[in-house]
Amino acid sequence: MDRIKIKAPATVANLSCGFDVLGLCLDNPFDEIEVIKKTKKEVVIDIIDSSYSNIPSNPKENTGGVPALCIIDDLNLDFGFNIKIKKGIPLCGGLGSSASTASGVVFAINKLLNDKLSIKQMLKYSLKGESVSVSNPHADNIAPCLLGGLTLIRDTKSLDIIKVPISDYYISLIHPHLHINTQEARNMLPKNIKLSSAITQWGNIGGLVLGFTLNDNKLISRSMNDVIIEPVRSSLIEGFDHIKNNALELGALGCSISGSGPTIFALCENEDVAQGILDFSKSFYQSLDMGCDTFLSQVNNIGPIII
Ligand code: HSE
Repeated sequence: MDRIKIKAPATVANLSCGFDVLGLCLDNPFDEIEVIKKTKKEVVIDIIDSSYSNIPSNPKENTGGVPALCIIDDLNLDFGFNIKIKKGIPLCGGLGSSASTASGVVFAINKLLNDKLSIKQMLKYSLKGESVSVSNPHADNIAPCLLGGLTLIRDTKSLDIIKVPISDYYISLIHPHLHINTQEARNMLPKNIKLSSAITQWGNIGGLVLGFTLNDNKLISRSMNDVIIEPVRSSLIEGFDHIKNNALELGALGCSISGSGPTIFALCENEDVAQGILDFSKSFYQSLDMGCDTFLSQVNNIGPIII
C-alpha cells in the first residue's frame, strides 16, 4: 500500500474531574488525513483549505510532521511521506486538535508500514507530536484518539493506558469563538491544592470510572464534578455557568470544559436532550453577539477510521 486516507477524531480530555487522566474519543468533528509514500526521504505537508486550516506546513513545526520525521529516522526508512491534512477540528478549541493530527499521521504511517509499530510506539510518537504545542505533553487526547472509546491514563511516563468500557452516549459540544492556549490554561492552575478538594476529586474520578464500567448513569451524574480545575478555567469562558446550569436542567448527565476549553461538553443519554442543549447554546451565544460552532457526537469506540 502506497497511500491511505483516514478520519482522525476529536477527543474530550479530562471529562470533568479526570484532569490529564481521562479522555473520550468522539465521532464528530474529525480531521481528514492522507499520507502518500514518497521516493525521496523527506516529509512534505500540504494543508487543505478548511475553516481551521491555519496550521504550519513546516514538518518541524507541525504536530504530524514531527512524528513522521522521527519514524523515518528511528526506523531508518529509505523513503518519505507526503501528508495532506484537512482540519475539521477547531484549533485551540479544547477538542484535541493537535493530538488528532499527531495520532492520525502516526496511525496512517503505521498502516503504510504494515502495522510495524506497537500501540506503545504509536502512543510514544504521537506524544512527540504533541510536544510541539505543549511542554510535558499529556496523553489524554492522543490515547483516546488512537485507541477509541474512554481511556484512563494511569501513568503517562510508562504509557500505562487502560480502556474503560463505555456505553453509547450523545455528546453536545459547544465551541464559543474564543482561543485558549493550552499551555497558558495550564500555567494558570494552582501548584498546590487543599487535601479536602483532592479527596472530593479522587472520589469523583473513582465514581466516574466505575459508573461507566457498570453503566450506572446516576453514579456518572453525581461523579461528573470537577472541584479543582473547572472553577479556575471557567472564568476564561464567557457564559460557561449559564450553559452548564441550563444543560443540566435540560437533562444532561454532566457538563464541563472539554480539555483546556473553550469548548463546553455535555454528556447525554439521548439525542433529543443533546440537540436541545446545542440549540439553547447557539441562541444564547447569538444573543451575546458571539460566534459559536456546535457539534453533536456519539462515542467513537474505534479511533481513526480508514476512508
Ligand atoms: N488535560 C489537558 C489540560 C488537556 O486540561 O490541560 C488539554 O487538551
